[in-house]
Amino acid sequence: MSQIIDLIINKKTDVNPIWIMRQAGRYLPEFREIRKKHTDFVKLCLNPDLSTEITLQPLKRFDLDAAIIFSDILMLPYGLNQKVEFKKDFGPILGDLNLNEMLNLEESEFVKKINPVYQAIEMVSKNNITKNKNTIGFVGAPWTLLVYMINKKSPKIKLVDDFYKDKNLIKEILAVLNKFLKIHIKNQIKSGAEVIQIFDSWAGLLDSKDFPYYIFEPTLDLVNFTKSLKIPVICFPRGIKNYKEYCNIINPDVICIDYEVNPTTIRKEIKIPVQGGMDPKVLLTDKENLKKQTKRYLDIFKDHPYIFNLGHGVLPETEPSMMDYLVKMVKDY
Ligand code: CP3
Repeated sequence: MSQIIDLIINKKTDVNPIWIMRQAGRYLPEFREIRKKHTDFVKLCLNPDLSTEITLQPLKRFDLDAAIIFSDILMLPYGLNQKVEFKKDFGPILGDLNLNEMLNLEESEFVKKINPVYQAIEMVSKNNITKNKNTIGFVGAPWTLLVYMINKKSPKIKLVDDFYKDKNLIKEILAVLNKFLKIHIKNQIKSGAEVIQIFDSWAGLLDSKDFPYYIFEPTLDLVNFTKSLKIPVICFPRGIKNYKEYCNIINPDVICIDYEVNPTTIRKEIKIPVQGGMDPKVLLTDKENLKKQTKRYLDIFKDHPYIFNLGHGVLPETEPSMMDYLVKMVKDY
């Protein structure tokens, strides 16, 4: 059995599996080499041979325990026929949202559009490199996708003033999202994904009074759906204050924490397996500091099922040698 599944099922504390968010990405020269020739990010995600190759790149270098499929959470709005583009040094730009078109979209049409993602999952999970390792599929949480679909760009740049204006539109989009997110999860699992991670990158934008409607209700629906398919689910509600309440309500198989929360508090308050936490900026410092900070997380979660990861994606400026050092250190702990 792979270490991650063993840890989740048997609540193992004597192993520290490791994988890293954005482990396939710009900090790797071999990724930048491919990216130079393939300037359209969406097209790259829709090229199963290349996305398989990119997914496997970090596993050829480092002894990681999982492959996370090279794709993006915004492939879902793309599948719903909303235009999605990625502009260098700006991030995603989405086109206008056509609710009627989304309400009338057939499942088969959606699946056909993003089928290359499923082909890549199948190729990754069948590749020898991922033997005894896990293939992780993922989706964006309904709230985070709603943010991109209405705002049409990262809220880091600006959240439009009238974001909440049309409550009925929001309600309809959330329903469409959950319908197609379930289809997307189901197809990823059918193609070989053994774990699903739900990214709620903008959970921290919301007032806690709005959590039940925008986060708890729709996320719980997806978590229960994934569990019903006998596949473990990891939730990453980045930037929230109350992880304990989130876990009590959502009860994922694993909770992934960001780097703003105090890991000692998490250790005391949370009973389920934990993943992540360390600030990705630590990899931009030196090996001595990296060792100290890594050890801090491993020590805190010594007697708790813990999957090592960062508290957000690895930064593009990271030296691959620092990643190498980190993975070896976690394995030798
Ligand atoms: O983790 C992995 O290695 C798997 C692949 C993956 C990507 N995006 C590839 C990617 C995953 C799991 C994601 C999730 C994702 N995408 C999230 C949730 C996690 C998070 O970062 O908060 C979000 C919010 C997105 C949307 C998105 N995609 C943004 C805002 C951007 C631009 C900012 C940036 O980091 O460049 C992307 C582009 C993106 N997605 C890249 C990669 C490797 C960079 C592409 C490039 O320019 O080469």
